[in-house]
Amino acid sequence: MRVLVLALTLALPSAGQQHEEEAQRIMSTTPVIDGHNDLPWQLLLRFNNQLRLPQANLTLLNDTHTNIPKLRRGHVGGQFWSVYVPCETQNKDAVRRTLEQIDVVHRMCELYPEAFACVTDSAGIREAFQNKKVASLIGVEGGHSIDSSLGVLRTFYRLGVRYMTLTHSCNTPWADNWLVDTKEEVPVHHGLSPFGKTVLAEMNRLGMIVDLAHVSVETMRATTGSLVMVNFYNAYVTCADTATLSDVADHMDHIKKVAGAQSVGFGGDYDGVSGLPTGLEDVSTYPALVAELLKRNWTEQDVRAALAENLLRVFSKVEEVKKTLQGTAAHETPIDFKELEGPCRTSYGYPNGTGTARLPPAALVLALALFLSLLF
Ligand SMILES: *[C@@H]1O[C@H](CO)[C@@H](O)[C@H](O)[C@H]1NC(C)=O
Ligand SMILES: *[C@@H]1O[C@H](CO)[C@@H](O)[C@H](O)[C@H]1NC(C)=O
Ligand SMILES: *[C@@H]1O[C@H](CO)[C@@H](O)[C@H](O)[C@H]1NC(C)=O
Ligand SMILES: *[C@@H]1O[C@H](CO)[C@@H](O)[C@H](O)[C@H]1NC(C)=O
Ligand SMILES: [Zn+2]
Repeated sequence: MRVLVLALTLALPSAGQQHEEEAQRIMSTTPVIDGHNDLPWQLLLRFNNQLRLPQANLTLLNDTHTNIPKLRRGHVGGQFWSVYVPCETQNKDAVRRTLEQIDVVHRMCELYPEAFACVTDSAGIREAFQNKKVASLIGVEGGHSIDSSLGVLRTFYRLGVRYMTLTHSCNTPWADNWLVDTKEEVPVHHGLSPFGKTVLAEMNRLGMIVDLAHVSVETMRATTGSLVMVNFYNAYVTCADTATLSDVADHMDHIKKVAGAQSVGFGGDYDGVSGLPTGLEDVSTYPALVAELLKRNWTEQDVRAALAENLLRVFSKVEEVKKTLQGTAAHETPIDFKELEGPCRTSYGYPNGTGTARLPPAALVLALALFLSLLF
């Protein structure tokens, strides 16, 4: 009898193992959709976006948080790739650099069609799940990327961008960033300026998800209805240099408690941050986090919601809003020229536009008159 019990104990997986196996089982049908990965930024820094360099091979790449084998082990079924460009590019080459990051994501999908499927809607994500590919979507990480232009915003949408973070760590000419809450920067718009509200309305009309990471509290209050995709960066998780998988699970538990399981998601920020929690070192580790949630008595339904269903629900809602707004005209009112930083800018189209190389005769006369009156 005793021997039998012992044998049984040995044969039974430990509780921990059971949760790991359960996580694998759940994720084989509901893989994770992660809201934020900065691999494209690494591709720029390391290879200047030359994807076909032998050392840039995404199967063999071994000193990034992300590569194709790790994505497979991590059961990643959907990824919003960030086309991040730093605030330093604001009023300089932000648009060009963002376009290049969008291009590198498209080329990832072309070069590794067995691993990635570039998609632009929730139906595309579900289809990629079926085909065991990483549904690849694009998120713009900071409103500075559109250079205060609704035309650029719409063009990004046409190129596949499906979310935009309103601000990164800088105010844009139309929205305040989180640094105003820490008093490191002065609030300018107290949330969104009137043009900022137009940007938001146009995003709704287009069907682009609004991402509120990095924005100020006042900017956040200007919006409603959401999902929190938990970031794994040590400094955000514990306000210190170190953290563990368990600390991240604490955040997810907290959000579940205050907002419900339907509000939780994953937004690892892999390849965008320097310090990651012990146990969550790279994109292969999502199943370990799921096992931890199961250990904390999350139901299978809660887990599937956090992995993918919440994001699919929010995305579908955004697509519905787009449908209800179909037929409404594009927002056209441009930002006031005075709200832009001028030195490197032309002003074509604005009433006192001075950007024309060949001045129309009337302006020429006016300029000449001005010049003469200055002389005398
Ligand atoms: C990592 O990749 C580089 C470049 O492909 C290769 O030279 C190196 O041997 C690899 N290292 C490991 C530990 O696989
Ligand atoms: C990457 O490396 C793998 C394994 O050596 C190889 O099969 C594949 O063709 C390479 N892909 C590219 C795009 O270079
Ligand atoms: C999970 O549920 C079990 C059984 O009801 C209970 O014994 C355990 O304390 C719970 N664990 C947590 C972390 O809530
Ligand atoms: C254009 O010039 C007029 C007259 O100087 C001025 O009142 C107006 O504010 C200017 N408009 C813009 C957009 O700069
Ligand atoms: Zn990022």
